[in-house]
Amino acid sequence: MKRLIEKLCEVYGPCGDEAQVRELIRQELAGHVDEMRVDALGNLIAVKRATEPGEGEPRKVMVAAHMDEIGIMVTHVDEQGFLRFTNVGTVLANTLPGSQVVFPNGVRGTFGVEGKPFSNEKLELRKMFLDVGAASKEDAPVGVGDMAVFRCAFADLGKRLLGPNFDDRIGCAALVQAMKELQSTPNHVYAVFTVQEEVGLRGATTAAFGVHPDVALALDVTLTGDMPKSETMEVTLGQGPAIKVKDKRMLAHPGVRRWLVRTAEAQGIPYQLEVLDYGSTDAAAMQVSREGAPAGAISIPSRYIHTPTQMVDFDDVQQTVALLVSLLSGPVDLG
Ligand code: CO
Ligand code: ZN
Repeated sequence: MKRLIEKLCEVYGPCGDEAQVRELIRQELAGHVDEMRVDALGNLIAVKRATEPGEGEPRKVMVAAHMDEIGIMVTHVDEQGFLRFTNVGTVLANTLPGSQVVFPNGVRGTFGVEGKPFSNEKLELRKMFLDVGAASKEDAPVGVGDMAVFRCAFADLGKRLLGPNFDDRIGCAALVQAMKELQSTPNHVYAVFTVQEEVGLRGATTAAFGVHPDVALALDVTLTGDMPKSETMEVTLGQGPAIKVKDKRMLAHPGVRRWLVRTAEAQGIPYQLEVLDYGSTDAAAMQVSREGAPAGAISIPSRYIHTPTQMVDFDDVQQTVALLVSLLSGPVDLG
């Protein structure tokens, strides 16, 4: 599975331009699902129909992981060939100096800051520029409207992994792996790889309308409270998948939360409860789609989210897959 994670981390896929990620996932899932389709916004919807009878009609279970990653977009090229840019998704200015970005044509660049060198002032995107090695405006190999993503090399540290975009390629990897391992199910399972999550859960909004699920789960990353002088937060790297209780935009459906907790306990899968003070996931959009759907989320703990180098624990990833497979192979029980 590490190879799958590495491949998913390498492909270019900022918000609104997720085609390469979609193509890779489509190849990975071929033969493992009954049907795949792409909706108008670009969400990949992979369906595995119920293989065994359950009680009554099979339930539609939608599991979403977002394909897009944060990045930057060129807004202006000056006479000397320096690029001004804006953020696509939440980009933290202080993480940019020293990091590398890559455009779809392979051009790489790094960031500079206006003013004196070696200053420790608080950074602002508007006072920064991107240097792709161009000597003049004419020489610039990219232009206005082009998007670049952050690219450090994927690294396998043994138990832990480093990558540029585990938010949410690690969720995509876990969902792909779960669909490969899922043998039989009483549910109609919709594995949905969404677009444009980082700019406001846009793909999940249309995908959930189209799928009209009976129950919805998001698979994403969450922050941890386990580093020196971290803000207090219960989630620790390596302690298992985090079952969402609340984040900035949603309260998980209590029945969904209980279903996840019960399943984890029955399978002996370690888990943690997540109360997140920042951000949200596709579950927030799925929950309020149409007339509403019971929704929850499984979060893979990650350090350094929304920075160019993120860290996850491989055991957490594997346990997330195990939890997902057990959930999907049994009946939905929101009691
Ligand atoms: Co994010
Ligand atoms: Zn995310």
